Amino acid sequence: MNYIGSKQRLSDFIVHHISQVVGDLSVCVLADLFTGTGIIARTFKSKVKSLITNDIEPYSFALLQHYIGNHEPIGRQDELLEMLNNVMPTEGLIFKYYCLGGGENRQYFSDENGKKIDAIRQTITDWQTKAYITQSEYHFLRASLLESADKIANTASVYGAFLKKLKRSAQQAIHLLPAQSEPTQARHMVYAEDSNALIKNITGDILYLDPPYNARQYGANYHLLNTLALYDDINPQGKTGLRENYYKSPYCQKQKALPALYELIKEAKFKYIFLSYNNEGILSHTQIREIFTAFGSYQVFTTPYLRFKADKDKNRVYKGTQTEEYLHCLVKD
Ligand SMILES: C[S@@+](CC[C@H](N)C(=O)[O-])C[C@H]1O[C@@H](n2cnc3c(N)ncnc32)[C@H](O)[C@@H]1O
Repeated sequence: MNYIGSKQRLSDFIVHHISQVVGDLSVCVLADLFTGTGIIARTFKSKVKSLITNDIEPYSFALLQHYIGNHEPIGRQDELLEMLNNVMPTEGLIFKYYCLGGGENRQYFSDENGKKIDAIRQTITDWQTKAYITQSEYHFLRASLLESADKIANTASVYGAFLKKLKRSAQQAIHLLPAQSEPTQARHMVYAEDSNALIKNITGDILYLDPPYNARQYGANYHLLNTLALYDDINPQGKTGLRENYYKSPYCQKQKALPALYELIKEAKFKYIFLSYNNEGILSHTQIREIFTAFGSYQVFTTPYLRFKADKDKNRVYKGTQTEEYLHCLVKD
């Protein structure tokens, strides 16, 4: 999934340094408290003793309930996906609010895809209500729908705006593909809480933190995925159809990010703490170093990184500008 701040291309760098500092991961409980798409937690899923994952956004929670929460294989995945790929389209809330045919002047999906997404989403809920599917199957199907719908969305990259003309990938018919979750012996925990509240109730060995770096709120940029995950009664706002009262993270706000990070590190009952951040974020390198050195021994790892910019024709392009990506590391006293 195209995701602001995704660590997909940095996962080798992150896993390498965490493993070097910590040593044997197989005896460690690792918590990833801003899990997003789950890419880092998924990389660690079979390497650590168990995982604690958390993200406050409902679409992320929905993905994590499958990618992390499901630890056994999904037996009927092909059969269920085939049935969903063949459901009859229907005019539900995605069509009504987010397709041109719905009459609200938004075009996040083609009319055909909007109706198909509605039909699939309603069928998943119906199957759950009638206990035709298990909770694990429900999470698998919902994650598969989120991933597959995202691939044919008519946006430049995020859902802060839609494109006027249907781009080529948005003209393709939606086809559900299986969201693959790695089976493990261990069970893992998945939360959807404010990390600063959750930290007070958890303990472990390794804490990996990847909070937002800048002012772009995830609730605004992925509102449509939240609606697809929740499929609730909504009252879309303005031209882009934002959800009412979406969550606003303190880590996206200049005045609030520093005290929020300080509190998080202070409250953490973990020996090893790692924080991803870059040199263009709200918090400066010095501010982070000062917080970390107050609680134990500190070091930092750095790698150059090419940032992405949305492009109206392609999903993302990598502009020539380079940033420095940091992995701050604290061994707590
Ligand atoms: C930089 S992204 C994480 C990206 C993730 N590591 C990945 O590679 O996909 C930051 C995440 O923090 C979440 N978030 C922001 N504020 C939060 C909070 N106070 N508590 C929990 N999650 C929060 C956002 O929803 C977003 O998914």
